[in-house]
Amino acid sequence: MAKQEDVFKKVISHAKEYGFIFPSSEIYDGLSAIYDYGQNGAELKNNIKQYWWKAMVQLNENIVGIDSAIFMHPTIWKASGHVDAFNDPLIDNKDSKKRFRADVLIEDYCAKIEEKENKEIEKAAKRFGDAFNKAEFEATNPKVLEYRAKRAAILTRMAKSLETENLADVKALIEELEIADPDTGSRNWTEVRQFNLMFGTKLGAASENATELYLRPETAQGIFVNYLNVQKTSRHKLPFGIAQIGKAFRNEIVARQFIFRMREFEQMEMQYFVPPGTELEFYEYWKQTRLKWHLALGLGAENYRFHDHEKLAHYANAAADIEFNFPFGFKELEGIHSRTDFDLKAHEKFSGRKLQYFDPERNESYVPYVVETSVGLDRLFLALFSTCLKDEVLEDGSERTVLSLPPALAPVKAAILPLMKKDGLAEYAETIFNDLKYDFNLFYEEKDAIGKRYRRQDAIGTPICITIDHDSLVDHTVTIRDRDTMKQERVAVADLRKIIDEKVNFRTLLSKI
Ligand code: GAP
Repeated sequence: MAKQEDVFKKVISHAKEYGFIFPSSEIYDGLSAIYDYGQNGAELKNNIKQYWWKAMVQLNENIVGIDSAIFMHPTIWKASGHVDAFNDPLIDNKDSKKRFRADVLIEDYCAKIEEKENKEIEKAAKRFGDAFNKAEFEATNPKVLEYRAKRAAILTRMAKSLETENLADVKALIEELEIADPDTGSRNWTEVRQFNLMFGTKLGAASENATELYLRPETAQGIFVNYLNVQKTSRHKLPFGIAQIGKAFRNEIVARQFIFRMREFEQMEMQYFVPPGTELEFYEYWKQTRLKWHLALGLGAENYRFHDHEKLAHYANAAADIEFNFPFGFKELEGIHSRTDFDLKAHEKFSGRKLQYFDPERNESYVPYVVETSVGLDRLFLALFSTCLKDEVLEDGSERTVLSLPPALAPVKAAILPLMKKDGLAEYAETIFNDLKYDFNLFYEEKDAIGKRYRRQDAIGTPICITIDHDSLVDHTVTIRDRDTMKQERVAVADLRKIIDEKVNFRTLLSKI
């Protein structure tokens, strides 16, 4: 089995074993691509949300946050283009009965060509050593050029066929490239069909006059339709932003890879409203700012890359993804899009209401342009969880599993561990717990050997363990143990709040952005 697969399996089992993520409705055999967050997962998720919200809303005086409803007027999804165009092309394999996204099969094929191309470059880099000129090699090597041309031709043809709804050609392409079901090798395909990703539901008691609704597939439209309400009541001038965190729902065809692609997930989106003509400048600003926000988490710069979209959606004039190196390779973590005035103009047209802004500096009214940043909360959770989960062999040859989360995001900030229950240690530990609980999420445990208790805290990422022993009763000091260095230190109980705060506060994390 590939190593990557092992890592991913370990991530999934650790998430379940330590109360981070459970398959939803598990006692009824689960529900495909739906997950529940357990006691530690909910804490971690809330802390990630806080990190995003503080960075967006608290640190920027011109960005405010809202919380719009999941149910929205159905015409909104007509205006946004989701009713007509929020489709994935799907194809079934007749032998394995498995369903795939036709575009993903073709993109995966191209990714394999890209791997070959990268191998050529790596080989040459080794061969030429310091004298290697990568740019020149890429521009002149016949094999690299051939691979690139092949990829470009395939992707261009696919984009054109999808745009013109020529689904027969998408199937033809799959057949010409001899793409097989990755699990079974079968090439016995059905036709390609379009499949709308929105979940429908009904509003109203009597079925005959019930209104057809959709569960929102993105939170962004809740921002667009409230933009004028927020602008007027906040009295912000352009540029200003509206941020929102909330659930989104998509009936994904291929929902594998754990919480990477789910049918119910959460987005953290921000729409930045700007004067027309300035959008590309702000687009560049937000691309860099969002990358810095990710880098501050300390997961390693080598694990991020930009993927600039060459082929743009009809409403965008620039778009890029921040990709992350997940256990199954580089995939989209966040999208940054310059969405022009497409959405607001469409809502003006479909609602019949003016959504213009009067710009006192330009002395004119216009529909603002929008730069969007959109990151999946669950994908960020997976990025953090999978990168921070490490198996370590210690100096004495023993092993431990540690979740080295950024301390501000750790579900539990400190564990209070009396060495034993008797002799008044538990009572003393409880007074410490009761004093610190107003400031930090704590964990209290008096059972088992201390080493075992440390390991359990390492496995959920608790930055500090506080051990109370007999000396504590006499001199009011305790031992604190650091999760990452495992170093132990004797400190005064009176200093605990300050010590924990210095370790886990958001200021340290936010000031790195
Ligand atoms: N408003 C723009 C928008 O929704 P998107 O690229 O479709 O753009 C934005 O989604 C982000 O939402 C993605 O970068 C990803 O992190 C997250 N996301 C999208 N679909 C998802 C799914 N099925 N499961 C988990 N996260 C998803």
